[in-house]
Amino acid sequence: MRVTAVLLAAGQGTRMKSKLLKVLHPICGKPMLAYALAAVTSASTEKPVVVVGKDGDAVKAFLGDSATCVVQDPPLGTGHAVQQAEAGLRDKTELVLVAYADMPLLRPETLRRLVDEQVKNPGPMTILTVNAPDPRGFGRVIRGSDGHVQAIVEEAAATPQQLSIQELNAGAYCFSADWLWQALGRVLLSRKGEYYLTDTVELAVKAGLPVQALVSDDLTETIGINTRVHLAEAEAVMRARINRAHMLAGVTIVNPAATYIDPEVTIGADTVIWPNTYLRGKTVIGSGCTIGPNTIAEDTSIADNCEILAAVMDRAIVEENVSIGPFARLRKGAHLCKGVHMGNFGEVKDSTLGPGTKMGHFSYIGNATIGPDVNIGAGTITCNYDGVHKNPTEIGEGTFIGSDTMLVAPVKIGAHAKTGAGAVVTKDVEDNTLVVGVPARLIRKLNEERK
Ligand code: UD1
Ligand code: MG
Repeated sequence: MRVTAVLLAAGQGTRMKSKLLKVLHPICGKPMLAYALAAVTSASTEKPVVVVGKDGDAVKAFLGDSATCVVQDPPLGTGHAVQQAEAGLRDKTELVLVAYADMPLLRPETLRRLVDEQVKNPGPMTILTVNAPDPRGFGRVIRGSDGHVQAIVEEAAATPQQLSIQELNAGAYCFSADWLWQALGRVLLSRKGEYYLTDTVELAVKAGLPVQALVSDDLTETIGINTRVHLAEAEAVMRARINRAHMLAGVTIVNPAATYIDPEVTIGADTVIWPNTYLRGKTVIGSGCTIGPNTIAEDTSIADNCEILAAVMDRAIVEENVSIGPFARLRKGAHLCKGVHMGNFGEVKDSTLGPGTKMGHFSYIGNATIGPDVNIGAGTITCNYDGVHKNPTEIGEGTFIGSDTMLVAPVKIGAHAKTGAGAVVTKDVEDNTLVVGVPARLIRKLNEERK
């Protein structure tokens, strides 16, 4: 059976008071639309349709070809919005799953259950409802004395008695497609000048057709976002869900309320995450690591058994048994091989530090390839930029770079070489050679038998 989702995103979101369209505001690093889209996609069999407003170009750009967009202009209500999808879907789907793009916390499994209920009992529709003490402006679900759903009444149109009803319309529906298209044509304009999708409930009941309800017991799923207050609430719920899943999978999160993990991040078991840590984008962390406190990692890969304290990392690769920080910065293209130690106040960009290399204190390494077991003395700088170009530095295995050495790139330092403290190296240095001074000069060949 073909199930097609229609996701509504054409509302203006004026209460966000933002230049950014409401559905593009991020929650845990991703636009709220991404969550709703993933949820409806998982519960349907065809490419979803997203209804956007006339100013929806940014939404279209975000969606790419993950969905088909149709434009609703002007926005005349949720029923009218769904109607915009009809031309493209008529005779192409048996079921239509409707959800709202501003409800990022609705779980994929809940929508799948909604579809399953409709498949099991194929009436005109199955709606999702929730029992909640705080109505948040939602439509109220009216049931008859026999317990069957009779209507959904919007808050603005509800009587005082109806306002006290605690069963709310969550805003997700699975319709029989043929029934839906003809019903939408019969929905009347509301007093607010909108065609309400929710009025289809009463149309079904009046035609003697049963409306099924799936009652959700999870209040957090139905946090719809209308203001930035709701945005923060949703962010907190999403964060808690993500953290909980990691904890149940064996990650220790010392203070979940102060740990910020994006949904696509993966973390191995027995890793400990200390507070004020932000793991963003597609960051991957192995097992047995200690991360934080005070660490930011974006699109960074960290292998097993690393210790990372107060570091900022962006698009970096860190192999196993590396220790970093406190106060270290890895920028794009930083690659620390296994066993590297990078201490305080270091910066590495577009560079590889070979296995076992140590860089203890305040150094800048950029556009460099550094071999294994190199000691980079305090204050070492690769002078990689000549004002026009970024130039490379190469350092061979087992070399000792003295404190405060300036490596004026392009420059190569051989294996097992040494530079004296304060050397300014402007020319290549051969293997097993000591250079000192400004500019650095060869002092002597070093004993071939290594220290
Ligand atoms: C709607 C429901 C209400 C439910 C609540 C749950 C209707 C009439 N009411 O009310 O019963 O309890 O959601 O959150 O459906 N949209 C369009 N085009 C429009 C109008 C809205 O695409 O012309 C989109 C919005 O972008 C939004 C969604 O539809 O994603 C819901 O619209 P909104 O105005 O937020 O409806 P509510 O008043 O919250
Ligand atoms: Mg809403």
